[in-house]
Amino acid sequence: MFVPTGEIVAAARNAGAGIGAFNVITVEHAEAVVTGAEAAGRPVILQISENAVRFHHGRLAPIATAARCVAEASSVPVGLHLDHVTSDELLDQAAANGFGSVMYDASQRPYEQNLTATADAVRRAHRQGLWVESELGEIGGKDGAHAPGVRTDPDEAATYVAATGVDALAVAVGSSHAMATRTARLDHDLITRLRDAVPVPLVLHGSSGVPDDELIAAVRCGMVKINIGTALNSAFTAAVRQRLDGDTALTDPRKYLAPARDAMAGTVAAALRVLGS
Ligand code: G3H
Ligand code: ZN
Repeated sequence: MFVPTGEIVAAARNAGAGIGAFNVITVEHAEAVVTGAEAAGRPVILQISENAVRFHHGRLAPIATAARCVAEASSVPVGLHLDHVTSDELLDQAAANGFGSVMYDASQRPYEQNLTATADAVRRAHRQGLWVESELGEIGGKDGAHAPGVRTDPDEAATYVAATGVDALAVAVGSSHAMATRTARLDHDLITRLRDAVPVPLVLHGSSGVPDDELIAAVRCGMVKINIGTALNSAFTAAVRQRLDGDTALTDPRKYLAPARDAMAGTVAAALRVLGS
């Protein structure tokens, strides 16, 4: 069933659980995420990033429509979220394309500019009825643009949330985008202080690099929405590579996309079981 993201996040927060939000690039990603969520018996969020839209020639509707149709056919609650948006033009297309939420990303700008741009984006998004996430304190690693070791300051976070009106806050607490190994160590004390400082749910980006015990600790300390992307692509690509290496004459893409989709579904189910435990 297709459910507004804000409702799914609120339910997870009230239950003291984490909600997995997985990045969708192709329709196989969406199918795998929902299959994994159904196997785990957990709600889930499908998220499509501005980068993924760029991959689809800048067209939001085809992949968003596919993801929404997959969500509607699901037996568990599924939300649809537009991720890492920097373009106002894309933001303005969100609600019409079925999204219940958007992450507006001005995190690479200086604090004052981030605050002003985000406050404006929140007004535009709320007019569309969207739930809005934004980010304060760069999360290290993405495209090399963010400095590793950056942390979000709790006092600044409190001021920023009050001034912007965001519904959720992504924070920098030790994770880093696009990690291929699960070796990140999070600052648990900082997560707790941030949870106590802001009235909105916290979001962890770059969660592919965070091991299970750290994810459990993060949720226990107050992290709610857990964003996972790279782990799916690692599973997808390893399965494709194995299939193609094993049969160099293979031409039918279904023969390698099916195991890739199964591998992603397994990754999703395992992560959701951890987040719900
Ligand atoms: O917004 C998406 C996430 O932060 C994904 O990060 O690819 O490192 O898991 P990841
Ligand atoms: Zn992210």
